[in-house]
Amino acid sequence: MLDVAIIISGSGSNLQALIDACKEENFPARIVKVISNNPDAYGLERAKKSGIETEVINHVDYEERQDFEDALDQSIKDSGAKIICLAGFMRILKGPFVNRWKNRILNIHPSILPAFKGLHTQERALEAGVRFTGCTVHFVSSDLDGGPIILQAITSIDQNDTADTLNAKVLELEHQIYPEALKLVASGRVRVSENRVRTEKTTFANISVINPLISK
Ligand code: GAR
Repeated sequence: MLDVAIIISGSGSNLQALIDACKEENFPARIVKVISNNPDAYGLERAKKSGIETEVINHVDYEERQDFEDALDQSIKDSGAKIICLAGFMRILKGPFVNRWKNRILNIHPSILPAFKGLHTQERALEAGVRFTGCTVHFVSSDLDGGPIILQAITSIDQNDTADTLNAKVLELEHQIYPEALKLVASGRVRVSENRVRTEKTTFANISVINPLISK
């Protein structure tokens, strides 16, 4: 059983998907702590409802980024977590923290990386006129949204889609692939070599996640 700490900034719908997955029988990970940099994040309520320890580590309380990251590091170490999932955490993590947790921080991003790194991904996808959008679970490296990719899922962009409809479609996919990615990592079926993820052959609960051309 792998102990996981989750870091959030907001609503925490991905956190909820991970909480629900961890409740499933034989799921190889459990959430030992939820940390938020935003004291008003709704995700904190979700964690409390499930009896998970929470802590607010607010970046505005620290003058230097390094001090904020050291506080995160200490809190995660204290929790005993061996791996971190960023779930809608809207701060950038830099070198020392990321190096200390190399290939042990997962992030979910609402685009098909390496396209549309950063913010406002669906608006930019619409502007670019691409036909598909989606989401990516990846390990965090010191390049923004740039680490080794674990899983991706896509959905088509239709004529009538707006940023809001796309956000909703993509969020639904996120809730499917984040638990699958955590399961893969926690069960030791993922290794990173030459900045790429190799996964052992596995069967997935939802095949449309793997072959998402058929999902809409
Ligand atoms: C999700 O769409 C996630 O991919 C995105 O924020 C949203 C959080 O929603 N993350 C990023 O953009 C990170 N760069 P949630 O709080 O409901 O999980």
